[in-house]
Amino acid sequence: MAKTVTFDELGPVGLICIDNPPVNAISHAVRVGLIDAIAQAEKKSSIKVLLIISGGELFSAGADISEFDRPQGDPSFQQLQTRVESCHVAVVAAIHGLALGGGLELAMACHYRLAHKNARLGMPEITLGIIPGAGATQRLPRLIGARAALDMIFSGKPISAPDAKAKGLVDELVEGDLRVAATDFCKRLLQEKRGPRPTCNRTVVDSLDEAEIAAALLPHARALKGRTTQYLVVEAIQASKLSFSQGIAIEAALAQRSLACRESLALRHVFFAERESGKLRGVASTEPPLSIRRIAIIGAGTMGSGIAMAFADAGVEVLIHDNDPTALARSRNIVQTSYESSVKRGRISREVADQRLQGIRSVTELAEAAQADLVIEAVFEDLELKKHVVSELDKLLPEERIIASNTSTLSVTELAHATKHPLRVLGLHFFVPAQASRLLEIVRTDETSPESLEAAFRVAKLLKKVAVVARDAFGFIGNRMMLDGYFREAEQLLLEGATPAQVDAALENFGFAMGPQRVSDLGGNDVGTKARIQLFKRESRPDPYFVIADRLTEMGWLGQKTGRGFYRYESGGREAIADPEVISLIEKLAEERGIKRREIGDEEIVERCLLSLINVGAMVLDEGIAARAADIDVVWTSGYGFPRHLGGPMFYADTLGLAQVLQRIRHHHERLGHYWRPAGLIERLGAEGLSFEQWDRSSASH
Ligand code: CAA
Repeated sequence: MAKTVTFDELGPVGLICIDNPPVNAISHAVRVGLIDAIAQAEKKSSIKVLLIISGGELFSAGADISEFDRPQGDPSFQQLQTRVESCHVAVVAAIHGLALGGGLELAMACHYRLAHKNARLGMPEITLGIIPGAGATQRLPRLIGARAALDMIFSGKPISAPDAKAKGLVDELVEGDLRVAATDFCKRLLQEKRGPRPTCNRTVVDSLDEAEIAAALLPHARALKGRTTQYLVVEAIQASKLSFSQGIAIEAALAQRSLACRESLALRHVFFAERESGKLRGVASTEPPLSIRRIAIIGAGTMGSGIAMAFADAGVEVLIHDNDPTALARSRNIVQTSYESSVKRGRISREVADQRLQGIRSVTELAEAAQADLVIEAVFEDLELKKHVVSELDKLLPEERIIASNTSTLSVTELAHATKHPLRVLGLHFFVPAQASRLLEIVRTDETSPESLEAAFRVAKLLKKVAVVARDAFGFIGNRMMLDGYFREAEQLLLEGATPAQVDAALENFGFAMGPQRVSDLGGNDVGTKARIQLFKRESRPDPYFVIADRLTEMGWLGQKTGRGFYRYESGGREAIADPEVISLIEKLAEERGIKRREIGDEEIVERCLLSLINVGAMVLDEGIAARAADIDVVWTSGYGFPRHLGGPMFYADTLGLAQVLQRIRHHHERLGHYWRPAGLIERLGAEGLSFEQWDRSSASH
């Protein structure tokens, strides 16, 4: 097995190099290697200073998360840090790329820190539902102050090396070759007779009162909604006022507590699920991977414009095609306005905005698409029109070129069959707004080739989106579950007696970013109605649902854009105001259907919406539309506002226990009828006492 840590002598400098691809995670083996290297160095009287550096693209992504569920084993992180900090020669960390979590904590235990000027340093633990457990809550306040430490840990986002230098986390910035500069720095330390400088000997200069803690939490209130880790972070940081040994003991106890909590299990589940969903079992391309330098988008509507921006933001040259020059002009306007607003908000500079805008070229000749490495059609959602476009593209493009459709409702298989080369056709289902949404559903037909799928994965990586593969079927993964499960139940609850505000509040309190009715109003009730018309042409449903949303569409109450929908919105505002007329409409619709309205509790709302979501999710899994329960969790946490700290609907179902889930679904089935039929997979797993996670694992081994 290759060594994960090497030791070399460069005269008086002992060079310790971490080499643990892909991200130099500080695994148990790395900790053993580091301790061994320090021991070797200390035995040599010729070594006067130690330099810790890493190979590859980054210093370290932190602790090895895949080892979290096992005992740490010796040396623990704490033992390693103590060993580094108490080393009798000075220890220098040289950081490039990224230093995250335990990687940065290792650097903080070193006596000096250098960073390449392009490096970034961060404490992302909170995104995994844990508190930094390798000394950061004690060393970071000693280096940059308690308030700044709190900000950095709450945000979870890395800061730039110059910012780290300004805060006192880094001693010097380096340009050019890090190894050479760091070795020179070590020699300078020797010349200047600067020895070990343990961080633990410093004291924290500032203290935190309640008001400061509240102010530090405020910018992260939305991201941390429903979470608990932040309070453990506060407790640990407050302990940095005590002696170092007392503080570190408190940190260790709190870290253990956070590691065992449900929030952390859920967030770690989503972390690995997102990485796993971007891979496909049993698919191996024989072709070299496609490089995407130029992309063509056919159709300059809102979606096409958003997709164009997503690619331009990733530095890809974009051709956007439309037969209609007015549509192209409108699209240009959408793009320009969006970049203008990003400049105003300080997200990008004017220069960058101009550059991106220039990177998008409007064309009216379809033939120009032949220059692109990948073509995405985003024309109006009409099967015949889309078939025509893909068959034209098929004639135009060399055989190996991939044709993707952005359809959200139509059969990708039918589109593929409109070409002579169905292997190269797939769906790339972007979500609104395409330039900002995280999720990309990759829709494969039975014929889509491994090369085409690999290209789609590359697109997701390039656009920094989370990819999930869905088989081509009604609504793919997300919309099928939304329509047949979650939203359908929300409407049913309205008919039975709940109000839009009550349904939304109950689900938002559960943790959803936005309740279903507010989502409908935001996207436009007409958009939902049109999508359902298309989808039901593809596959009908025995009885009509979404009667309320469809009636609102008929009435022109389309949501925020018309100032009225499930709610009222005053003068273009976004605040949803309860509308008694909507309640009367719901009452009338309920009466027409013979539904006697009653008072409904929040608990029932949450239970029914979630169980219906889970039940349809299990069908999606059993039908092979999603390959893994974890993929469904990724779809819902990254694209549909499901609270990430609850792990996604299928993980959440596991935490409830599938036997209990089954029992409650049966209960609703008896009361509400056929559409609550329990999914066969839940019946099987529930009867055997198994979980979706176990199902994923057993299907992975087949
Ligand atoms: N431990 C184990 N594996 C890790 C890892 C980690 N800390 N970070 C990344 N990986 C793995 C990924 O699972 C992935 O593996 P596969 O190729 O087998 O799927 C591989 O490394 C590459 O990762 P990405 O696909 O995410 O690559 P990227 O280039 O898009 O992103 C990254 C790189 C920014 C480092 C990103 O992986 C990341 O954010 N990692 C997590 C960082 C983190 O949260 N660190 C804190 C750990 S907790 C800690 O350190 C606690 C403590 O106090 C001791």
